[in-house]
Amino acid sequence: MGENDGETGRSKELESCHKARKVVRAGFFLVWRMLVRDETWWVGKRDRLLEIAGEHLNAYVYDLETVEAAARNMRSLKSVRRILYAVKANFNADVIRTLAGAGIDFDCVSPGEVRRLREVLGDEASGRILFTPNFAPRDEYEWGLQQGLRVTLDNLYPLKAWPELFADREIFIRIDPDRGGGHHRHVVTVGAGSKFGVSLAELDELERLVASSGARVTGIHAHSGSGILDPENWRAVANVLLEAAERFPDVTVLDLGGGIGVPERRGDPEFDLAALDGLLTDFHEKHPEYELWLEPGRYLVSVAGVLLTHVTQTKGKVDHRYVGVSTGINSLIRPALYDAWHEIVNLTRIEEPPVEIVTVVGPICETGDQLGTDREMPPSNENDVILIANAGAYGYVMSSRYNLRDKPPEISI
Ligand code: LLP
Repeated sequence: MGENDGETGRSKELESCHKARKVVRAGFFLVWRMLVRDETWWVGKRDRLLEIAGEHLNAYVYDLETVEAAARNMRSLKSVRRILYAVKANFNADVIRTLAGAGIDFDCVSPGEVRRLREVLGDEASGRILFTPNFAPRDEYEWGLQQGLRVTLDNLYPLKAWPELFADREIFIRIDPDRGGGHHRHVVTVGAGSKFGVSLAELDELERLVASSGARVTGIHAHSGSGILDPENWRAVANVLLEAAERFPDVTVLDLGGGIGVPERRGDPEFDLAALDGLLTDFHEKHPEYELWLEPGRYLVSVAGVLLTHVTQTKGKVDHRYVGVSTGINSLIRPALYDAWHEIVNLTRIEEPPVEIVTVVGPICETGDQLGTDREMPPSNENDVILIANAGAYGYVMSSRYNLRDKPPEISI
């Protein structure tokens, strides 16, 4: 037996090992398909999505029924008087109209977001806006007050440096509740390492500054982080806000912020809204003098949005397999910025078992241009339609024209 026979034997062995793995993966897939009842909207609307993909190389698609359903879920919370949508998550006009129609109000962080709401909803939108700029220039606060918006201050600085702006005005104050969390350190908004909010140690000074400015504090606000899955978080925040609220006799609102997480993987448990309602009802019964508000962004829009793209090229490199698609981190930066996990499926071959492990990459000239790594997928062919899920929040709004590649269009269905 020559040397080459040994080589051939080994490669045959490897090949049959590889085949066996594929069979096992395919088997798991079939069992998983039988066990998981697939209620995801984009499975039901696959034909429509493929039709859209036939017309656009890349596209964000928003399912307005899913937005509406999320809004209904939020509005069903008995303990919460107002839901303000954090417009930063997705400022698409159809999305905004759908949420407004479902009785949702709005949290804006810039004059641009306020203007967008007015363009979409008309001037009547102003009464439904909480304006929460952060480290913004003086003019923005002045502008917000002139526009009749409810304004939140999240530092002592405006009260110290520009007290005349707030004389006889009603304002909200954002507190750093010093407890919270988030899916990544970039989105944790509490603690000394985060730039947001008046810290609890500054409450005495806050009280003095408010008194000398002549402002009236009517709401206490916090936002403790993004992508939090434990309902207990908001009760804890409410308890901390109470401490601040009791210092200001005009306070009627505790705004507990957003941050409500959505499951990343199909089959993972949903956020337990009923548990949240239970905890907040308990709080509200003890403190009925305050109405509670929430400010979700992600919860209302994430699941409703997908990014559609097409396979451009495939490649194997040593033990890595790459599937190239026609857009990358210029359209969806979350995987690169936060290591965020978005489900990726080959929509063309949704019925086929995933038999290979691949990295899905875009056309952007950076190694970090990866939309997903270690993904089990069926073998992909050029022009297959790839769907990237949970892309309705912080997707299009964070996209760019990096490498001078176009942003995908946004399409609502
Ligand atoms: N309220 C305030 C004051 C906020 O700053 C935010 C989000 C929200 C509400 C809504 O948070 P949500 O419910 O969406 O978690 N780009 C990141 C998320 C940044 C969130 C910034 N603030 C991401 O893609 O995960």
